[in-house]
Amino acid sequence: MLASDDIDRIRHLVSIVADADGEQPLNEDATLALAGDDPAVSHHLLDEAGELIGYAQSNARHGTAQLLVHPLRRRRGHGGRLLLDVAGHGVWAFGDLPGARRFATTRGLAERRRLLVMERPLEPPSGAVFEGVRPFDPASEAEQLLAVNAAAFDWHPEQAHFSRADLDARMAEDWYDPAGLLVSADADGLTGFHWTKRHPDGRGEVYILATHPRAQGTGLGRRLLAAGLEHLAATGSATVHLYVEASNARAVELYERAGFAVVHRDVLYAPDPRSSDDR
Ligand SMILES: CC(C)(COP(=O)(O)OP(=O)(O)OC[C@H]1O[C@@H](n2cnc3c(N)ncnc32)[C@H](O)[C@@H]1OP(=O)(O)O)[C@@H](O)C(=O)NCCC(=O)NCCS
Repeated sequence: MLASDDIDRIRHLVSIVADADGEQPLNEDATLALAGDDPAVSHHLLDEAGELIGYAQSNARHGTAQLLVHPLRRRRGHGGRLLLDVAGHGVWAFGDLPGARRFATTRGLAERRRLLVMERPLEPPSGAVFEGVRPFDPASEAEQLLAVNAAAFDWHPEQAHFSRADLDARMAEDWYDPAGLLVSADADGLTGFHWTKRHPDGRGEVYILATHPRAQGTGLGRRLLAAGLEHLAATGSATVHLYVEASNARAVELYERAGFAVVHRDVLYAPDPRSSDDR
């Protein structure tokens, strides 16, 4: 577990890097993990003369890492040292900035995953009613929600592991709004959900959209998506964005048909499995 002054130093470095690059170097998961005690998470701090100049975080469960170096201390080998600390993990390059791409590819890493951010404007609410779609009941439906998530994302490296603790941590966040977590059900229980998120600046997000395989191909995803967008519009969001794997062609198509366009890309660089040189 990190000491609280180390958490503060890392957050400070993260904000300096974000200002310099125009890109957040740690994602939500890694930011939450700073104050957590997940045994799968390791922290690597790089100090020089008492100043924090670099930080890496690896997650053994996801097999991934995130690393950053102070903008004024770059191109002196610090990034390479942190990369050795997290060896064996893929490394996220948020925004796929040219320097990070060059850093990763010159060290024998290759693009393994591409995460897209898609966005669209929101029109004022239409007043449409979505039959069979209603708010989630956390008292009785948490396990069902996790079961739908696990079945829908059984192929997904991170979302497949979304646990009760992950759910509880998000429901304890300031942004959590029970009315923005919409579900659908049949006689056997929940068939799908659309968890929307309203950011402090008012932007809306399709946070998680999942339908159980038994209900897929019936138009349920489209209906849950539309119901969540109506909710976000009704609460005042002018835009909505989402994260989706570029390889998830069905989801990308669903979002394109709903008017979303790609505005941003994150790339995971990892050792090339075809190469015997597994640095
Ligand atoms: C990517 C990052 C970690 C590199 O840290 P670093 O301390 O500069 O890394 P090193 O000194 O070990 O390696 C530098 C090498 O990376 C490449 N590189 C890094 N920045 C570059 C840039 N702006 N333009 C071109 N190449 C660059 C070059 O190959 C460089 O070697 P060179 O200086 O001999 O030409 C740092 O720029 C950073 O914190 N970026 C923001 C967070 C991020 O993108 N992390 C994901 C990394 S995949």
